Amino acid sequence: MNMEENKLTSPNLENAQEENLENSLRPQTLEEYIGQNKIKENMKIYIEAAKKRGEPLDHCLFYGPPGLGKTTLSNIISNEMKSNIKITSGPAITKPGELAAILTNLSEFDVLFIDEIHRLNKNVEEILYPALEDFTLDIILGKGPSARSIRIDLPKFTLIGATTKAGSLTTPLRDRFGIIHKLELYNTEDLKTIVKRSSKILNVNIDEMAAMEIARRSRGTPRIANRLLKRVRDYASVLGDGEITLKIAKIALNKLEIDELGLDETDRKILDVMITGYGGRPVGIETLATTLGEEIDTIEDVYEPYLVQIGFIARTPRGRIPLPPAYKHLGKGDSSLFQI
Ligand SMILES: Nc1ncnc2c1ncn2[C@@H]1O[C@H](COP(=O)(O)OP(=O)(O)OP(=O)(O)O)[C@@H](O)[C@H]1O
Ligand SMILES: [Mg+2]
Repeated sequence: MNMEENKLTSPNLENAQEENLENSLRPQTLEEYIGQNKIKENMKIYIEAAKKRGEPLDHCLFYGPPGLGKTTLSNIISNEMKSNIKITSGPAITKPGELAAILTNLSEFDVLFIDEIHRLNKNVEEILYPALEDFTLDIILGKGPSARSIRIDLPKFTLIGATTKAGSLTTPLRDRFGIIHKLELYNTEDLKTIVKRSSKILNVNIDEMAAMEIARRSRGTPRIANRLLKRVRDYASVLGDGEITLKIAKIALNKLEIDELGLDETDRKILDVMITGYGGRPVGIETLATTLGEEIDTIEDVYEPYLVQIGFIARTPRGRIPLPPAYKHLGKGDSSLFQI
């Protein structure tokens, strides 16, 4: 499989062009945000309550695999709070002074969005503790015996942190978020609604069955659903009259080598290594990564969540194991010998 095709099922954002598409398809209000009902209901109440009290919203942490709508949700929250949002990311803030500058430049009720917050370095993170807890900043002036610390009051703001790796967050940082939500992979119905909504924005007609087909192959991820829709639209305008029918959707998706479950070459390689290479025995993530020549993070964040969700692999204390549906999907026969 070549790079182009790999890209299609990667939940990561690929380039500036895709970022533009993404922005145009981004819902602006909680009402428009599809699925994740539990989070939406909770956030509605927290936002309402904060507004009633005339206070900023509590600090929020959103975590979950890429492409599920963490950035989108954070923007929506600032819209709903009618506040301004300042956007930065963990790796972009390299020194404590940089974070101090960002914090002192905030206005009352601003939302500060820090993407990939697990990648903040330790010195920077420490500045954040009193800022989150008491809206203060402790600054050390001078060096050596004459050094003294001064305390600056900050405007009351809301921090929204997003991460694909909640486990990598330090406990003191995690503890300072009043609201913590995990975004789950989307079900097919919700993805279908997203595909239909995006089609409307892109001004293309799509029938119900075609929207369903794209949804089924999107690995539970809105970003992938939107990307597949765009590619299928191209096929529809070349092979047909521009309208996306089930027939055209199937032709397009098959040409793109996305199987009926949305699995790509790497997924199939992972399963094959587990089933054929390791005979279905538990295999550690490091071993798997080395055998496949992939990063551990890529397997854990990008591939594994969906394979677990569809019941193809399970995590056990001794490692990952392939499950019967995976054997069946790969046409690998009986798995009962290998079950533990
Ligand atoms: N609930 C939703 N309803 C409709 N569209 C959505 C929803 N969630 C995400 N999307 C679409 O999916 C795209 C990707 O979402 P977003 O950028 O918010 O993901 P993310 O979780 O921040 O990903 P990353 O971890 O890579 O930063 C958005 O452009 C948006 O159009
Ligand atoms: Mg994001």
